[in-house]
Amino acid sequence: MHLDIDNLNSRETPFYYYDLDFLETTLSDLSIASMRPNFNVHYAVKANANRPILELIANHGFGADCVSGNEIKIALESGFANESIVFAGVGKTDDEITYALNQEILCFNCESIQEIEIINELAYNLNKTARIAIRINPNINAETHEKITTGLIENKFGISMNRLGEVLEIIKNSPNIELSGVHFHIGSQITKMYVFRELCARINGINRWFNELGIQLEHINVGGGLGIDYDAPRINPVPNFQSYFALFDKFLQLFPGQQVYFELGRSVVGQSGMLVTKVLYVKEGETQNFLVCDAGMTELLRPALYQAKHHIENISSIFSKVENYTVVGPICETSDCFGKNIALPLTRRGDLLIMYSAGAYGEVMSSNYNLRNKVDALYRSTRWKEMANEYNRVEAEAS
Ligand code: LLP
Repeated sequence: MHLDIDNLNSRETPFYYYDLDFLETTLSDLSIASMRPNFNVHYAVKANANRPILELIANHGFGADCVSGNEIKIALESGFANESIVFAGVGKTDDEITYALNQEILCFNCESIQEIEIINELAYNLNKTARIAIRINPNINAETHEKITTGLIENKFGISMNRLGEVLEIIKNSPNIELSGVHFHIGSQITKMYVFRELCARINGINRWFNELGIQLEHINVGGGLGIDYDAPRINPVPNFQSYFALFDKFLQLFPGQQVYFELGRSVVGQSGMLVTKVLYVKEGETQNFLVCDAGMTELLRPALYQAKHHIENISSIFSKVENYTVVGPICETSDCFGKNIALPLTRRGDLLIMYSAGAYGEVMSSNYNLRNKVDALYRSTRWKEMANEYNRVEAEAS
């Protein structure tokens, strides 16, 4: 990550700062690591849906994993091909399904029997055939935060393995549905690689089961979930894509011609973005000293929602003396806290703080609670200077 300090100092805070050069480095690594004839990576747009970021990712030839009609729309506008877009989500509306059918996207990842019936009905009305994948709940513990665990039987996601027979009956009687594959996604910020091995083993059994029934699945979608290093983003800026893809290559047992889809979000964009905030007040408390910043949970919700830790640095301080601070935002909630006992050089009002690893699920989850302004974004790119300048101008005008 490159910090353009002069540029950062001249901007009104808070804002997201995206290093598009670094994103390109990540994308090149991802391309190389995933380079196998049957591997297809679809970027999970929900992680970050900013236009310059989507354009760069599309430009590298990746597909898109979308969870709303609006995500499909922005993906198409940003250059993703319609036949590289998959549409997931437990609650697709009729309008969204109709829109996706008209755009002739690659595949719907279906999460319930009723959803399959509705897609069939809507496709029939349009005289189209919908390609679908059944999202299966494999009941595997991703060993991550409970709020981003999706593959356990008590979660709302996917269809239980016990119901697959019933699902196949419905599909058999749905002339406007074509079964293309199966889909899995067991959670996010997964750092224990054996979890993915366990997923492969479960998928292999299911894949064989379909085969024994005489159903040749065209694709297996293994979802996303690869974690990033929030503790040491400077030391480990690019996730270990090599070992991630090698694992699936080694442990997934495929039948000839089967394709594998991946839906990575966080690992693609997480380390390319950071939140820049200014210290409004240094407040001496009874038990701790607070740094009250002009960014809060409205700009970066992850610490409040998942007790997430984003590495924090003070880029203004000239002092070598280090103090412990509790770093908080201005919002009227006790959960509006970025971290306690954070060691930082002696900090004063007006200093800039950087919250690292905020490129994924940062800006997209921002809100205007307390009637706050929409958070701004600044892009840095040497290779795509014009694009960065253009977007910086457009966003500055809009804010
Ligand atoms: N596929 C599906 C079906 C998903 O639900 C998700 C993420 C992904 C792929 C991408 O997962 P990734 O590679 O980014 O882990 N807001 C939370 C994360 C929520 C993840 C939601 N689903 C956070 O800030 O940690």
